[in-house]
Amino acid sequence: MRSAVFTEYGRPEVLQIQQVDKPVPRDDQVLIKVHATTVTTAECLMRRGCPRWGRVIIGLWRPRKRMRVMGLELAGTASLAHKPANTTFEQAAAAVDGATTALFFLRTKVGLASGQSLGADKVIDYTVADFTRGDQAYDVIFDTVGRSSLRRCRRVLATNGRYIATTGLRNAVLAPVTSLLGGRRVITGMSADKRESLPIVREMVESGRLRVVVDRSYPFEQLVQAHHYVDQGHKTGNVTVLVAS
Ligand SMILES: NC(=O)c1ccc[n+]([C@@H]2O[C@H](COP(=O)([O-])OP(=O)(O)OC[C@H]3O[C@@H](n4cnc5c(N)ncnc54)[C@H](OP(=O)(O)O)[C@@H]3O)[C@@H](O)[C@H]2O)c1
Repeated sequence: MRSAVFTEYGRPEVLQIQQVDKPVPRDDQVLIKVHATTVTTAECLMRRGCPRWGRVIIGLWRPRKRMRVMGLELAGTASLAHKPANTTFEQAAAAVDGATTALFFLRTKVGLASGQSLGADKVIDYTVADFTRGDQAYDVIFDTVGRSSLRRCRRVLATNGRYIATTGLRNAVLAPVTSLLGGRRVITGMSADKRESLPIVREMVESGRLRVVVDRSYPFEQLVQAHHYVDQGHKTGNVTVLVAS
């Protein structure tokens, strides 16, 4: 079977599409035939070996053997959860990362309850105005793209407010420290276990409450081009890769 593999850190060109043996699942594993996957910023960072401290986990000089395969977000057959009935495999793959990460932070970490609306009453274009210069104080600031910091946001974060960060070593250090100190807190972590959130996401997609946005879609052979595009940091929603039809 074909597999997208990287054996060294670097530009998208380090990616190789290789023929590898089909894995044999153990008793507690399932084998998935992947139809579609995505290229996320998280995977581009992994490919570059960034941030440097992350190499402690994925490999100091080069990626560890078990970390070399791309395509962490996927949709296929024999999967752990059924894909939403009204989506293609590409849309289903693209429904996973953002939605399950948002659920992990907003529901599990800061306890957003049903009935609380996340609708955007006001939209601030970051290229025009800096929200940290405004007069409004926020209970929760959720940085989904890793472009701010507690320091920058402190002025507009309520006294007992939560600053949620999806990434960053500094935030990983600040989280336990601010938890001990009380007052404004940093919340961070990894949304790794998707078992509880996937059925919720499926229901939201099937009922039309969650719309999956696919910015661009690439064939598997153009994985390198897909990584170049995501590396620019301006994808809207998701970039998908069609592995098998
Ligand atoms: N902790 C976890 O479990 C977890 C899980 C998944 C992802 N992550 C992390 O989350 C981060 C984001 O990943 P992603 O794939 O969602 O990112 P992304 O889609 O590639 O981010 C690009 C988007 O961010 C917008 N943007 C760029 N700078 C901005 C700013 N200063 N203010 C507001 N919006 C800005 C861009 O809009 P414009 O085009 O208009 O600039 C674009 O729409 C990555 O660092 C990833 O590692 C963490």
